[in-house]
Amino acid sequence: MGSFKTMEFADNKLILLDQTKLPLVEEYISTDDHGRIAIAIERLEVRGAPAIGVAAAYGIALGMKNSNGKDVEQFGKVYQRLKITRPTAVNLFWALDEMKNAFESSAASENIYKVLLQKAKDIHQDDIDKCDGMAKNGLQIFKKRSVVLTHCNTGQLATGGGGTAFYVIKNAFENNLVEFVYADETRPLLQGSRLTAFELEKAGIPFAINTDSTAAFLMKQNKIDLVITGADRIAANGDSANKIGTYNLAVLCKHHNIPFYIAAPTSTIDYNCKDGSEIKIEERDKKEVTEINGTPITKNEYNVYSPAFDVTPAELITGIITEEKLHSPPYNF
Ligand code: MRU
Repeated sequence: MGSFKTMEFADNKLILLDQTKLPLVEEYISTDDHGRIAIAIERLEVRGAPAIGVAAAYGIALGMKNSNGKDVEQFGKVYQRLKITRPTAVNLFWALDEMKNAFESSAASENIYKVLLQKAKDIHQDDIDKCDGMAKNGLQIFKKRSVVLTHCNTGQLATGGGGTAFYVIKNAFENNLVEFVYADETRPLLQGSRLTAFELEKAGIPFAINTDSTAAFLMKQNKIDLVITGADRIAANGDSANKIGTYNLAVLCKHHNIPFYIAAPTSTIDYNCKDGSEIKIEERDKKEVTEINGTPITKNEYNVYSPAFDVTPAELITGIITEEKLHSPPYNF
């Protein structure tokens, strides 16, 4: 892995690499306050579906650090604060519910902070293992040394481990199966040009950043062999929510006859969600579109429509790589 740590627990504090400042500044946030962790998730200082789940799990444990015994009321407050941070990535709710089960099944005599901290560390380790599984299972989609296009950031910065789609690409590169990567810049928050580029550089993978609207032209020139992205929530039928613009790529792939894959851990599958129409899509503050780093780039009074995610229908997805296996259509999770 690259020489940076997205998230580390040490001395009873969660240390997060502030992703809003990357790649120009590598600065860490160190906190033992669950409210500060909730704010970090809201501001995208920590982001990416699995990473926000792991951060929230540590947040639950820290929120109970000073509680007197099994304080149900305090647990409810901490749980609720973290739950309202972001609505789309199901990994957040999955991790929070894992923590809730640990809390509920603990005995009144136990040190609740210790129990919850251990559970959070288990969730973190589980995510590391799931990333390793995806990287391994993803190798089979490469039929030759390939040029890959990806969207948003799905690497070490987006998970507790090595990543989802990015880790598949990195492992394939290390096995001489990836020649070059095109990274969509990923408007409006530029996870591609800031974060994926940072990780590609650290991994020594040859790459270029392209604006999101360049993808069709790249495909038309036969420059892309396959597209791989992550997901924030996968419905039981395979419909997959991911960063806004992912659906565009899947449609383009269909037109150009290019395979379109998703890599995501099983904690991203929402078995209670029948299809994509049930996935709640987050809308972000208009300033993320009208300003860049606090500098206006258009008139503030203009209306903005800024969904953070879109849903790619299952029929456009060639395969879904999880830590278990490569799933092929028809999906039935
Ligand atoms: O808004 P973000 O940056 O949290 O969105 C992240 C993505 O859309 C990723 O592609 C997704 O979480 C899967 S990567 C592990």
